[in-house]
Amino acid sequence: MRMGVDYYPEHWDRSMWEDDARLMRDTGISLIRVAEFAWSRLEPTEGQYDFAWLDDAISIFANHGIQVVIGTPSCTPPNWLVEKHPDVLPIDALLHPKHSGVRGHRCYNSPSMRQYTAKIVERMAAHYADHPAVIGWQTDNEFGLHECHCDHCNVRFREWLKDKYGSVEAINEAWGTVVWSGEYSSWSQITTPLGGTKHQNPSFVLDYTRFETDSVVEFQQLQIDILRKLCPNHFVTHNIWSYPMPLDYYKLCENLDFASLDYYPSTDPEKADSNGYSGALTLDLTRGVKRRNFWIMETISGPPGCWFPMWRTPHPGFIRAFGWQSIARGADTLVHFRWRSAPTGAEQFWHGLIDHSNVPGRRFEEYRQLCGEVEKLAPLLDGTEVQGEVAILHSHEQYSAFRIQPQVEGMDYFDNLKSIHRAFTKLGIMTDVLDEAADLSGYKLIIAPSLFLLDPELVSRLEEYVRNGATLILTPRTGVKNRNNVCWIQPLPGPLSEAAGVTVAEYDPIGKDTHTLRWKDGKTYSCSQWCDILEPQGADALAWYEDDFYAGQPAVTGHAVGQGNVYYVGTVPEEAFYLDFFRDIAEQLDLVRFSGLPEGVQHAVRTKGTSRYLFLLNLTRKQQTVPLDRVCQSLLDGQSIGPSLNMAPYAVEIVELSR
Ligand code: GLA
Ligand code: ZN
Repeated sequence: MRMGVDYYPEHWDRSMWEDDARLMRDTGISLIRVAEFAWSRLEPTEGQYDFAWLDDAISIFANHGIQVVIGTPSCTPPNWLVEKHPDVLPIDALLHPKHSGVRGHRCYNSPSMRQYTAKIVERMAAHYADHPAVIGWQTDNEFGLHECHCDHCNVRFREWLKDKYGSVEAINEAWGTVVWSGEYSSWSQITTPLGGTKHQNPSFVLDYTRFETDSVVEFQQLQIDILRKLCPNHFVTHNIWSYPMPLDYYKLCENLDFASLDYYPSTDPEKADSNGYSGALTLDLTRGVKRRNFWIMETISGPPGCWFPMWRTPHPGFIRAFGWQSIARGADTLVHFRWRSAPTGAEQFWHGLIDHSNVPGRRFEEYRQLCGEVEKLAPLLDGTEVQGEVAILHSHEQYSAFRIQPQVEGMDYFDNLKSIHRAFTKLGIMTDVLDEAADLSGYKLIIAPSLFLLDPELVSRLEEYVRNGATLILTPRTGVKNRNNVCWIQPLPGPLSEAAGVTVAEYDPIGKDTHTLRWKDGKTYSCSQWCDILEPQGADALAWYEDDFYAGQPAVTGHAVGQGNVYYVGTVPEEAFYLDFFRDIAEQLDLVRFSGLPEGVQHAVRTKGTSRYLFLLNLTRKQQTVPLDRVCQSLLDGQSIGPSLNMAPYAVEIVELSR
């Protein structure tokens, strides 16, 4: 477990490197990430590689015991490359190129882009393979999908479709192109989805999104292959940008050693009670990408801003608390973005730990404290992991399908997943957030929000977990379509109807209207977005609607299957419903739970063998009291704490739980 910073030697006069390195060492930093945008310095003109400046910088840092992660610079092809081979630029749906001088201006399928990337990565890998201070690589920077419609992408897209479908007839069939006379009679008629209209065939657009993910994965794989071959002793990772994301991170990270996340929690005081919850989800998702601990490759160090007005500066305690939150949920290394704010360029006001003044201030001192604490606790925490008893399923593909066809105003796949996760976090129940394709054996409770696209294979896996004792919770818009993004011709929830023991007689997309739901004990809750009017086919009704022509009709059902249960929640209820419902289920299933957390305070547990470390984080600007129900010794400062724990704004406590 260690601390690092993102450092750009090329942004600073050489005379500053030595002082920076010394201050880093004195602060407890043992790692820098460098070079991910430095192509124009590493290869100033074609074929003229210049690594001398980076060697000099690395050796200064290495002399202070600081190790190095090198980023491959493929996110920023230099001007000479763009000038010579304009086909490196991505082309948008209206056929305009994305220009250089920003970043991310690279078509993943451009042969020149691939060729020049391979060359520079090979040179860098060969050069640094045996450097004693270099420990690993980051590919590119924050890959995303940018919808390239260039000729190369069109050719590759047709090849991709040939591989998948074999014939034009099979595509017509799979996508249902008969609608609006969209049938293809030759391959040459198939292009990427040009024109940027929302009226395109959803099956076509979803396949194009998959093709784009595969293009990124291939572009990255080219780099991974070179790095594996030339640097067998180094790790390879990538810094994923946050969520939600159409790019499939599970595929992107498949051949990496671990995932890294760039984590920028909001500093907005109005969001102070809530932003820790979306952060918790992002961290749980990142841990789920490889089902193992991860790195934070960038995180907040000061007020962000630049092409948008600046955010508030991190409140005292914020940088430290969110650093610990990342560790609590599975980060093993924290790399802060960035050491010092840039005096030039597009990100001048995305602040680093040190301001332009070059005088380390309040934020720096807080970061220094965090470094000291991490160093102190590393021997205990190294090798510890996070494991939940509850799995929440996530899918980039479901997210894309909903993005292609929003179902009703106010309904957002990811926001709905967020509310479910937030309820568990508030209840003090740890969850793993996993790819819907993941092996879920061992989980007592599985929440599968809106499995809009559903295939028989996923259905039979879920049914089997349930038969073997798992509880499964389904929500609206489940089983609507097959993987071709084509509707199932059968009652909802489609292929899961039998397991759910219920069908949907009719639905009402109520959007932002609110309705009321009555639980069997008489308690009422509001609901919005969507109302599935349910017809039990073996399931028991557990809650009913109170409004409209479907007043009295079932809204929630439960169905015993084998040794398990399937619940179908036919609407999107307010949080209070989730809290009560999940609390009840947690009691029935005897789930481990930290109860009594006040709003905005989070817990997490990291374990190794029989050792268990409890983290308590007050991620709010308020003083909070937490029922610890015992007296413990703080691992941070050795003080006795509890049984009732007073937590100042952004306070953190870490204790070892007795065995
Ligand atoms: C991203 C990028 C960084 C930097 C920060 C701040 O996370 O990876 O290079 O641009 O945002 O804007
Ligand atoms: Zn392209």
